[in-house]
Amino acid sequence: MCGIIGYIGKEGAKDIILNALLKLEYRGYDSSGISIINEGEIITKKAVGRIKNLKAITEDLPESNMGISHTRWATHGKVTEANAHPHTGCNNQISLVHNGIIENYTQLRKILKEKGHIFKSETDTEVITHLIEEMIKEGNDIETAFIKTLKLLEGAYAIAMINRAEPNKIYAARKSSPLVLGIKEGEYMLASDTLPILPIMSDIIYIHDGDILTITKDSYKIQNLDQVPVNREITKIKADLDEITKGDFPHYMLKEIHEQPKTITNAFSGRIDEENSTAKFGGLNIDEIDLKKIDRVILTGCGTSWHACQYGKYLFEDIARIPSIAEYASEFRYRKPALTENTLLISLSQSGETADTIAAIEEAKKFNVRTIGIVNTIGSTIARMVDGGIYLHAGTEIGVASTKTFNSHLVILYLLSVYLARLRNTITKEKANEMLLELKEIPKKVEEILENETQINNISEKYFNVKNALYLGRGYNFPVALEGALKLKEISYIHAEGYPAAEMKHGPIALIDKDMPTIAIAPMDRLFKKVQSNIEEVQSRGGKVITITTEDIEDHSFDEIIKIPKTSEYLMPILATIPTQLLAYQIAVKRGCDIDKPRNLAKSVTVE
Ligand code: G6P
Repeated sequence: MCGIIGYIGKEGAKDIILNALLKLEYRGYDSSGISIINEGEIITKKAVGRIKNLKAITEDLPESNMGISHTRWATHGKVTEANAHPHTGCNNQISLVHNGIIENYTQLRKILKEKGHIFKSETDTEVITHLIEEMIKEGNDIETAFIKTLKLLEGAYAIAMINRAEPNKIYAARKSSPLVLGIKEGEYMLASDTLPILPIMSDIIYIHDGDILTITKDSYKIQNLDQVPVNREITKIKADLDEITKGDFPHYMLKEIHEQPKTITNAFSGRIDEENSTAKFGGLNIDEIDLKKIDRVILTGCGTSWHACQYGKYLFEDIARIPSIAEYASEFRYRKPALTENTLLISLSQSGETADTIAAIEEAKKFNVRTIGIVNTIGSTIARMVDGGIYLHAGTEIGVASTKTFNSHLVILYLLSVYLARLRNTITKEKANEMLLELKEIPKKVEEILENETQINNISEKYFNVKNALYLGRGYNFPVALEGALKLKEISYIHAEGYPAAEMKHGPIALIDKDMPTIAIAPMDRLFKKVQSNIEEVQSRGGKVITITTEDIEDHSFDEIIKIPKTSEYLMPILATIPTQLLAYQIAVKRGCDIDKPRNLAKSVTVE
């Protein structure tokens, strides 16, 4: 959701900045821009489209040792060059980039216009630039003008700003939007996350809400809005550069799908306590006595992570016998839920930066609710704000459509349900051992499914031109249907809906015809016969059915069949998800879609 970069250090900053910006392109990719200072002037270039377009128009940009840049995911104002960042105000004295939303921008814009400021864009961001100019006009120095302006802003921001009179300084600030500082001798880089920093620097500071930063080539200063200096810890992070290349795969998404035997193993490694027949987590930080008292679990997240929450809801009730619900974080944060100290909020997020998920945790904390975050990104906001954290250890996920982290979330939820169930004596040691043993078999079974890619590709040949698709699943496989449909719509732009199989006859059945395929998740389990009836209902209305089922299926009349290995009912969603990911991928490739950067989406949604 917009990415920002600020760099100061060596000559040749333009290339360093643009290469860094490319690593943030997953956050938004409709337009981009850069500002540098040369001979006392700010030079700004902007381009609509991908960063490669910006690269093309900045070839003749003069040398500089510093600059700021931005990759945009439009919130206020269309995708145009004028709306792209940086924004430079009336007199090009300052230039700034912003990630977030300024909620009171309409009022501020009105006041500034009355004072004679001329706006060049439709963005909320531009008010920040003009406000700072106004503060300078009133006699404030630049730093005071910056801080006074921040105090007037409502909403969320990560900002980096340069001033043409100070070619050796970058100002920055954070409130509710991520910002990280990379440190190296004689060089500093500011970025929306660590990805662009890690290939060149390993010392990182996670900037906190309310922090204001000033960096020069040789120093940095962090203070709060009252201008009191604050100390922030420096964290050393080692980059795994393999993670951020595609290797031999044509797309990150395919690479990430294929990584799942490894990422699933990473999710359970070190977390199986064989001696005590349970699971263990290093960073749970919640007393076992308190966990035993939990009488309600609320799982929350957005998008794919919310689908994983749905799976968790089934498991926690089934295995640990705790009443559980899965809620969209965006709904939970505003609906005034009745919370008690015995409620446990479990928040799921790949990025750890999703604005609504963060707000849901903040809301729960007001009621002394215990919070657990299951996140992928180390050091992210959610990881730092929850009582107990569990990392997915899935490595960086670059494809905008989540794949590997969905299944990692399922693994962690599975382990957490075993842990809570053992704590509350709702399952025996034997049952726990059986569950843990079965989990260890999963990576091998995922490999088997991945070997079946050609068959899935053949199916995609027949269906890539459809306009609509329906995904059906029951019980634990209902979340798989939701996620399968989301994957298809995200990357292929085919309209798709996930439904609990039996609900199909209460509406979607009206849409069934020969042109709308149904993807049914129907393993040979206690619900198979039920789903089979639903499949027949589709077929008797002329609909084609692609069925994902287990290898022990015998007679069938499905139009297409994808067989997967058998496992327990609880773990089946992990296996059943893989063919849905591959199918969505293969269909999107055949439709010529931009797999890793689907239109209008962003990987990290840091605005509400
Ligand atoms: C965006 C992404 C989705 C993701 C969702 C939640 O919409 O495009 O792929 O599932 O945000 O993100 P999170 O990082 O919190 O899991």
